[in-house]
Amino acid sequence: MINRIIFPLLFFLILAVSGCQNQNSNDQATTKSENQAEINRKNDERLEGDHVQNVSELPVLTPEQKQQYINRSKEIAQTAFKIFSGHLERLFKQKKPEEALEYCHANALKITDSLAKAKGVNIKRTSYRLRNPENKPTAQEEKVMEIFRKQILKNLKPKPYMHYDEHGYPHVYIPIMVQQKCLMCHGDPNKDIPEVINQKLSELYPSDKAIFFKEGDLRGIWSIRFPKNNKK
Ligand code: HEC
Repeated sequence: MINRIIFPLLFFLILAVSGCQNQNSNDQATTKSENQAEINRKNDERLEGDHVQNVSELPVLTPEQKQQYINRSKEIAQTAFKIFSGHLERLFKQKKPEEALEYCHANALKITDSLAKAKGVNIKRTSYRLRNPENKPTAQEEKVMEIFRKQILKNLKPKPYMHYDEHGYPHVYIPIMVQQKCLMCHGDPNKDIPEVINQKLSELYPSDKAIFFKEGDLRGIWSIRFPKNNKK
């Protein structure tokens, strides 16, 4: 008799509780994406505030036009990444990691420069912890990286950002994240980086700051500047 009452009651209770939890997690998901949207909006506003004084003379872009700039920049960054990693993988397959490093040293800037010429844009890879001092960030790029890093600290995914820069150029910034495969040249020198690479690094980059990165960190940004009269 008692069983006939208690069991169905328990069953209902369990259903009710699990229903609540689902509801809760849905609520959380919505709040989270609202948070993300709100934070992105605030970041955009903050960056907008850094504009040139004569920003009102620049054409106002629709979100679609901004997205076109971002999409073109993503394509350019992916092409550059493919060129780099194609060469690196070939050298790794031949078991010559130190040659891969020398390859980067000799060619990284040449590759981005020639790609930039072909695409009619300016391409730069920069970081808040540099290996090559020639990749030094501008004040604006530093600000963008600071914002991306804050987003990562809050477990938010940084997204590419487009605006008119302080000289009035359409400018896109794309986050570069650290992946597992980057660690052998950018990770912990005591455990991730092989000795031959450690040696080569100190030889080629005596003031190297681009180590001790972890997977998921912001490594830096692609900073892509378009001509002022860009016709797409
Ligand atoms: C074989 C070693 C090697 C690997 C693997 C490697 N890098 Fe690098 N990285 C370098 C070298 C060398 C430079 C400096 C290039 C130069 O002289 O311009 C560099 C520079 C950079 C820069 C430019 C900023 C700076 O500090 O000068 C970024 C950004 C970067 N690497 C990101 C990555 C990411 C992301 C990965 C993984 C997907 C990666 N790297 C994997 C060797 C490597």
